[in-house]
Amino acid sequence: SQRTLVLLKPDTVRRGLMGEVISRIERKAGWTVTALELRSLDRAILEQHYAEHIGKPFYEPLVEFMQSGPIVALVVEGERVIEGVRRLAGPTDPIAAEPGSIRGDFGTIVRENMIHASDSEESAERELKTFFPGLV
Ligand code: GTP
Ligand code: MG
Repeated sequence: SQRTLVLLKPDTVRRGLMGEVISRIERKAGWTVTALELRSLDRAILEQHYAEHIGKPFYEPLVEFMQSGPIVALVVEGERVIEGVRRLAGPTDPIAAEPGSIRGDFGTIVRENMIHASDSEESAERELKTFFPGLV
């Protein structure tokens, strides 16, 4: 099976929607939350996490938003969980996201879109190391 890194962004924590989002993930048969941490992020970890976006026009506001309050980092394990959590989240822009998806039901603007989930096995490996360096 696979594992993926999920971040509940500051909007999710601020609005009291952590439980709702975690429930949707947990309810999927065969998926398990195997690590979970509430924490604040500094610039260095965000530079590492969002390296591919450095220099883009939305990068600075994104990094500021991600430092605007605590986030929850989770490791989720299960069958095809990388693709699966992305589907549960919906497209990046909440306006384009279907009702029933996390972003479709709760997302507001593209920057404040509730959740991050690794987009490939390579990203998952890299991001899991960034957020859970002790993970075996
Ligand atoms: P993540 O799961 O958070 O990585 O989202 P994603 O993979 O759907 O999007 P991507 O990696 O392309 O961008 C990372 C984050 O930057 C997004 O989740 C948004 O919060 C933000 N973002 C991406 N594109 C835009 C954009 O065009 N405008 C703005 N304002 N923010 C963007
Ligand atoms: Mg991404």
